[in-house]
Amino acid sequence: MDYHHEIQPPLRTIMTPGPVEADPRVLRAMSTPVVGQFDPAFTNIMNETMELLRRIFQTENEWAFPVDGTSRSGIEAVLASAIHPGDSVLVPIYGRFGYLLTEIAERYGAEIHTLEKEWGTVFSPEEIIEEMDRVQPDIVAMVHGETSTGCIQPLKEIGHACRARGIYIVVDAVATIGGVPVKTDEWCLDAVIGGTQKCFSVPSGMAPLTYNERLGRRFQARKKVERGIATEADKQPEAPMIRSNYFDLSQLQDYWGPRRLNHHTEATSMVYALHEGARLIVNEGLEARFARHRYHEEALTAGLKAMGLSLFVEGESKLPVVTCINVPEDIDADEVRKILLGQFGIEIASSFGPLHGKIWRIGSMGYSCRKENVLAVLGALESVLLYAGAPVNPGTSQQAALSFYMQKEDTKAAAEV
Ligand SMILES: Cc1ncc(COP(=O)(O)O)c(C=O)c1O
Repeated sequence: MDYHHEIQPPLRTIMTPGPVEADPRVLRAMSTPVVGQFDPAFTNIMNETMELLRRIFQTENEWAFPVDGTSRSGIEAVLASAIHPGDSVLVPIYGRFGYLLTEIAERYGAEIHTLEKEWGTVFSPEEIIEEMDRVQPDIVAMVHGETSTGCIQPLKEIGHACRARGIYIVVDAVATIGGVPVKTDEWCLDAVIGGTQKCFSVPSGMAPLTYNERLGRRFQARKKVERGIATEADKQPEAPMIRSNYFDLSQLQDYWGPRRLNHHTEATSMVYALHEGARLIVNEGLEARFARHRYHEEALTAGLKAMGLSLFVEGESKLPVVTCINVPEDIDADEVRKILLGQFGIEIASSFGPLHGKIWRIGSMGYSCRKENVLAVLGALESVLLYAGAPVNPGTSQQAALSFYMQKEDTKAAAEV
């Protein structure tokens, strides 16, 4: 093997539910110079990042910052800091990532209660509230956008019900943040965790999160500053100390806050990337960004249906940024994906567990959510399916999406005259 040449990854069209194409402006920000982690030039960028994240999480919370690691590191940080061994945690599950919440909570000593829903459906608020009243958990942990099934769970009533009962609610908004409304304060969510590699169009490797004062007090009661850097003022924890050092949010907030407690060495270039990704979201405008995701979803689904394909989830519970398609009978789902990637340079995703081979998942997220990508994936998928002998309507998918775009653009142009 020859190690003497630079890596040359191919340029792909990525239409999966993550990672998606990184915005070129994010990649440019990542290539700017590394500065020291306590250099004011850097701490200013940290402060700005926190302010941008507050806007995107739609919160007045003091604490909104990233944990270094992939999205699950943010989930783990919140659960590790919140769960006292023996706490009862209710996890409503409607896909793979609900199970991930149980995996993590269990490792931190929680007593887990699950409520399961068939994959491809979501819960009514009443179902969860009834279970909450029966189990009386300390914490409810659940997923907002389930990328494994392409479903979105409404959270407003559940959040309010938790608040009224003094239960904490922790939400995985990894797939939705920056693409679909996530109203942390209005929905009474105590902690929300996002992801970078999806609607932010930032490479994977950071987990932006936010939590409120109510949950923050719980973290503070368990705070134990590392011996080598603790001062006289740092007390011993009142409650059982947080079991993880890396994921201890009580120390991490002191690193992101005015104390600048020396915890880990910050991932400088990833903070630049997150700052730029967040800045692009705020500059686009949250409402405009959500509308853009809806717009391209409409074009994509029009094209898929014109081709004769059926969607795994439709209607209110469909996640706007992930479209799941039923694989036609006798078609090898993985072979189709392989040809799409090998011949067209386009990546779409399979799913997990019981849905593997049964559905394809197309993500339309962040920078990948563009007209040329939607038209490209439709045309390529139609060609590959025809080649594989699937009963699709030739020449229809791109035409349907193209007509959608042309009509919308004509209407917009007419309105501007
Ligand atoms: C809804 C959801 N939660 C959590 C995760 C885990 O994220 P990561 O792979 O970045 O740790 C994913 C990843 O795809 C996801 O889609």
